[in-house]
Parts: sequence; structure tokens; C-alpha cells
Amino acid sequence: MPTSAQRPRVLSGIQPTAGSFHLGNFLGAVRQWVTLQEGNDAFYCVVDLHALTLNPPTPAELRERTRVSAAQLLAAGLDPERCTLFLQSHVPAHTRLSWVMECLTGFGEASRMTQFKDKSARSGADRVTVGLLTYPILQVADILVYQANYVPVGEDQRQHLELTRNLAQRFNTTYGDTFVVPEPYILSGTAKILDLQDPTAKMSKSLGDAGTINLLDDPAVTVKKIRRAVTDTETEVRYDPKAKPGVSNLLTIYAAFAGRPVAEVDQDFAGQGYGALKAAVADAVVAFAEPYAKRTKDLLDDPAELDRLLARGARRANEVADESVRVAYDRVGLVPPPT
Ligand code: TRP
Repeated sequence: MPTSAQRPRVLSGIQPTAGSFHLGNFLGAVRQWVTLQEGNDAFYCVVDLHALTLNPPTPAELRERTRVSAAQLLAAGLDPERCTLFLQSHVPAHTRLSWVMECLTGFGEASRMTQFKDKSARSGADRVTVGLLTYPILQVADILVYQANYVPVGEDQRQHLELTRNLAQRFNTTYGDTFVVPEPYILSGTAKILDLQDPTAKMSKSLGDAGTINLLDDPAVTVKKIRRAVTDTETEVRYDPKAKPGVSNLLTIYAAFAGRPVAEVDQDFAGQGYGALKAAVADAVVAFAEPYAKRTKDLLDDPAELDRLLARGARRANEVADESVRVAYDRVGLVPPPT
């Protein structure tokens, strides 16, 4: 077993979502986190502070979402013996470094982030907070305090990773070598799951419930949604994302659970119709989702145990992150605090 110092450091974060993770969250990101526990020193956090930046939930909702998200990450296979799972707000070093990084970021540079522009355009200037503007800088701090080598994220986070690299280099140039400049580990090879009702768009709760498979849903609901998934007017089961997006999406889901290349699984359905494909997809999803939902429920039914697991993660995260901030504050010239 290599020591943690020899293994690459991985960090990623996920927003606490209301209720269940959907199949796109799981196959697109969470499943890769589980894989990356092996061979890496992996840190994963639920970014509860980031959840305050836009349409903030009520206090009760935020607590609930955060716990349900953490429980689902454990249910999905994150193992506290093999990775460090924690809540962002339990590690004050993130916000402490964020301030310093804000002071190294140009106002224009932050304003040009496309996610900020998109989100602020959609919600209107009056409702946009300074927190939404500085969101990516807190993300930079999330990453840099762990001296992460790799950051597994979706394609939509590429620009935030570029900012992370720029700010790490800027700090290092200004104050001396302090931070590892991380590499994005873009999860593009992983299954991109599309909406069941609109298979030209990414699966997303905002598109409506009928197209989204929620992993905590009752299996009967899931089976029904898959049976009603939009296909096409042909009958042949064939992987062809352009001409047959709905059928191809179902094959992608099937292949992801089977752990086989999507290009080969359509052979399994030679001479069979869409009914057989949908039944096979439903079986695969339910076979995963049923024990997942049970594990999630068991964790939520034992809040003391969930808290204990998160406290353990927070302890290790704080150790690593505090040391980075101690060094960074010292390099900047802040007088060391009394011990
Ligand atoms: N912004 C990321 C997203 O929306 C979430 C996130 C916050 C994150 N902090 C992070 C991802 C640090 C990777 C590393 O998906």
C-alpha cells in the first residue's frame, strides 16, 4: 500500500441537491469519484457554502439537502476508509484562502466567467449577489488548500479550473512556490445521460420530472418513466446518437451499468424491439437503485453515525487544509497568529 504522499491527490466537490441525485449526476460524476478512490488520495466535499450563492434554500432545506447528499455519496460507494468525505463548511481554511485569492483576482476576470454571466443573466441583476461573482474563487480555494493534482469535473467546469491554475501560478509567482497547479480531469469519456423526454438535452431536474430518473424514487416510478421514454418511429435497436438520440441514450444507460462499451451492447437486442430494451434498462437501473436507496435511508435513519463519518472526514481535511493556509498566510506577510 503506497503512502498518501506518493499517491496523486484528487479533489472534487458537488452541490447539495434537493432530494435525490439523478442518474446523470451518478453516472456522470459520482461513479467516477468512487473509481478514483483507488490509487489516489481522494478528497470529496459537499459544497454547502456554494449552495448559498443563488436561490438559497431555507435553513431547514439546506441542512436536509446537505445530509441527504452526503448520505447518497456514501451509499454510492464512497468509503470513509479509502477517501476523505466532508462538508465544505466544516473546513474554515477554504474561506480563509478564498479571501486572499479574491485579492489576486481582477474584477473583470471574475465577471467574465461564463457560468456567472449565464446565471446572472437568467436571474436578473437585482437578485445576483456578490457571492455568485466570487463563487469560482471559493472553488479555487477548495482545490488549492488540498494541493490537489487532479480535479475530476464535467466539461462545464473547465473555465473554473483554468482560473484555478491561473491563480495558483499567480500566487506562486508573487509569493514563492506554494500551491500545486492542478490538472483538470475532465469526465468527458463518461456517459453523458440525456433527458428521457427530450433526449437532445442533458438530464436535468429543471427540464421536468418525467425525463429524470431519481435514484431514490420508488422503483415502480422509475420503471414507468423508462417505459415512457421518448424513442423514434423505427423499430430497430441501434446506437446512433444523431439519428436515434432516445434509443441511444437508453443504450448508454444500459452499457454504463453493464460496464461494457456502448458500441457493442446493441447486439444484445438484435431482433428485439424497444420494449425489450426498456425492460433491460429498467432492470439495470432498479438493480442498482434499490440497494442504493436502502443504504441512503439507513444512513439518514442514523444521524449520529452520519455525523461521525463526516466528522472523521472533516478532521483529516482540516489537517491538510490548515497547513496550506498557514504557509500561504505567512508568505503573504500576515503576522503568524498567537499559538
Ligand atoms: N462548481 C462545481 C459544480 O458546479 C462544484 C464545485 C465547487 C467543485 N467546488 C469545487 C468542483 C471544487 C470541483 C472542485 O459542479
